[in-house]
Amino acid sequence: MIPLFKVPMSDEAPAAVAEVVGSGQIGQGAKVVEFEEALAARIGNPRVATVNSATAGLQLALRLVAGDDDGQGEVLSTPLTMEATNWAILANRLRIKWVDVDPATLNVDLDDLARKITPRTRAIMVVHFAGYPVDLDRLAAILDDAEAAFGSRITVIEDCAHAWGATYRGAPIGTHGNISVFSFQAIKHLTTGDGGALALPTDELHERARLLRWFGIDRSADRLRNPPDVPEWGYKFHMTDINASIGLANLAKADEVVARHRDNAAFYDRELAGVPGLELTERAGDRQSSFWIYPMKVDDRDGFLKRMDAAGIMASNVHERNDLHTCVREYAALLPGLERVARRVVCVPVGWWVTDEQRGHIVDTIKEGW
Ligand SMILES: Cc1ncc(COP(=O)(O)O)c(C=O)c1O
Repeated sequence: MIPLFKVPMSDEAPAAVAEVVGSGQIGQGAKVVEFEEALAARIGNPRVATVNSATAGLQLALRLVAGDDDGQGEVLSTPLTMEATNWAILANRLRIKWVDVDPATLNVDLDDLARKITPRTRAIMVVHFAGYPVDLDRLAAILDDAEAAFGSRITVIEDCAHAWGATYRGAPIGTHGNISVFSFQAIKHLTTGDGGALALPTDELHERARLLRWFGIDRSADRLRNPPDVPEWGYKFHMTDINASIGLANLAKADEVVARHRDNAAFYDRELAGVPGLELTERAGDRQSSFWIYPMKVDDRDGFLKRMDAAGIMASNVHERNDLHTCVREYAALLPGLERVARRVVCVPVGWWVTDEQRGHIVDTIKEGW
């Protein structure tokens, strides 16, 4: 079976972990600092704060911008994502307002988003689905208009869990003035085992993120002789040196990993264009996807999945729409764009492990029909 996901682990990682485990310092320490500096250099944003998952990072990001809410605050978000994106809204006791999905990109539909901003909007969550960047300049223009209309600037949180290595208008994701949250979970392009990071737009938000990820306590203070006050309570969301050492080892090969995802995706783009019953997603010239997954829209998805299974190819939609879950029933909305794609999205293996021969087999199988 050609797997849909595989853990990209550097040969250097076991020795790096052994060194930390034997060092007597396994919590948050020097390796976390070193990993954050390496991430900052790679992203091109000095304000990076690691955490123990993107799930924690998203929850913390929302707390930073919309934590003091009156119970009426709404967060605009996409239903086509991993539940982690949206449960972060619930964890902050905020209300979800679903924005429709653009069938061309599978990202949030920016026309619908613009229509749904109100004075109750506390933040906007966007997901770069599959690693394909949302049109961030257009989103910024929508926020300019909303600011002119309602008098305050709404913060955007970019869920970059799929998007390590993606660029928008020549600059890496994580540098466009929003809060960006990355995932280093097991099967992402860059893994720390489990982990995540926030890339922040201001020094003030960076400092608060660093405090709130560890109870709100200032770790740089002399806690024994001069215990610091905690003005704002925080969580236990920090990364450990064990995870950071895995991340440092894997960072060295992350560009190679992303490049192979892109190369396989370019092959599918060339070979699958025009195949009957199958529609590819948008490719705009001003952004580069990281292709964590390769989503397509197919007719008769059940038939497609059976055909792939019979040919030894793992395929899946990867994420179920979130809006139909019982726990978010009260936020139900009409989402015609999502309705058009929800039962047609399917992903085939695209990652660094897929060989030339395997991708040829995948293309031949699809071209034979299902
Ligand atoms: C879009 C999206 N957001 C958030 C997450 C959560 O990431 P983590 O497992 O690091 O908490 C995932 C995980 O796959 C994801 O796909």
